Amino acid sequence: MADLYTITDLRLSLADMTRKPLLGAAPRLEILKGLDFTIPKGAVVGIVGGSGSGKSTLGRALVRLLEPSGGSIRFDGTDITHLPEAELRPLRRRFQMIFQDPMSSLNPRHRVGRIIAEPMRLHGFDGVDARVARALDHVGLPQGFAGRYPHELSGGQRQRVGIARAIALAPDFILADEIVSGLDVSSQAQVLNLLEQLVADLGLTLAFISHDLSVIRRLCQRTIVLYQGAIVEDRATADLFSDPKAAYTRELLEAIPLPDPDQVWA
Ligand SMILES: Nc1ncnc2c1ncn2[C@@H]1O[C@H](COP(=O)(O)OP(=O)(O)OP(=O)(O)O)[C@@H](O)[C@H]1O
Ligand SMILES: [Mg+2]
Repeated sequence: MADLYTITDLRLSLADMTRKPLLGAAPRLEILKGLDFTIPKGAVVGIVGGSGSGKSTLGRALVRLLEPSGGSIRFDGTDITHLPEAELRPLRRRFQMIFQDPMSSLNPRHRVGRIIAEPMRLHGFDGVDARVARALDHVGLPQGFAGRYPHELSGGQRQRVGIARAIALAPDFILADEIVSGLDVSSQAQVLNLLEQLVADLGLTLAFISHDLSVIRRLCQRTIVLYQGAIVEDRATADLFSDPKAAYTRELLEAIPLPDPDQVWA
């Protein structure tokens, strides 16, 4: 299988504003400390790790919301590590991110139809109305929802709108960052089932960030474990669960009560 992403010695530093002196620049904190991995086309890869381990920072680097300070990110053969915005723009359609809190990522003053349509208009799509209808259909929302505002929806429905907006652009890659963390258990299961279905139907490549190992176990063939900005384990999920190599992975597995994955997704 060809690789969609090739990540080599990825480093990312951010200014530590909590230690910024009155004069001069804030000291730099190295958040990602030299990551190497690939994401094959069509793969569903889990990214786990404790709070502050760098999961979201890595996710934002993959979709170039953050610019790395070292190493390289190749996306489908193109080095996007330092690509200027004008050259990134046509590629941006192809890698989409879905966020944890749809309430803050959906414009509260726009109706759902416009929320889904707007990125397509920016990317010059034709037949946007028909595509909005199809996207709603894909995520299991009735067509009438196009006329609703985000505050008129449940958390699970809002997350479906976020997914609809992303898939409407026909991306190759979706990065989902803790997208079910804010939902109750039954909406979580529904959104995850939907995501699993879409990945299969649309041939998407998915990176799924979560601290919930039972979700990762069900959804992802492969799992990357981050610890303090470095990869401590990157293996087939089944192997990771049956025979964790890194001490930190064992800690993660022990710390989290693991229900039967078939029960979680009932
Ligand atoms: N804008 C920023 N400036 C400075 N440091 C930051 C910034 N954003 C994140 N960090 C730091 O980078 C580290 C990694 O943060 P990140 O948000 O990537 O972790 P995470 O694994 O997603 O955590 P969580 O599970 O809590 O979402 C943390 O120590 C955090 O404090
Ligand atoms: Mg995070």
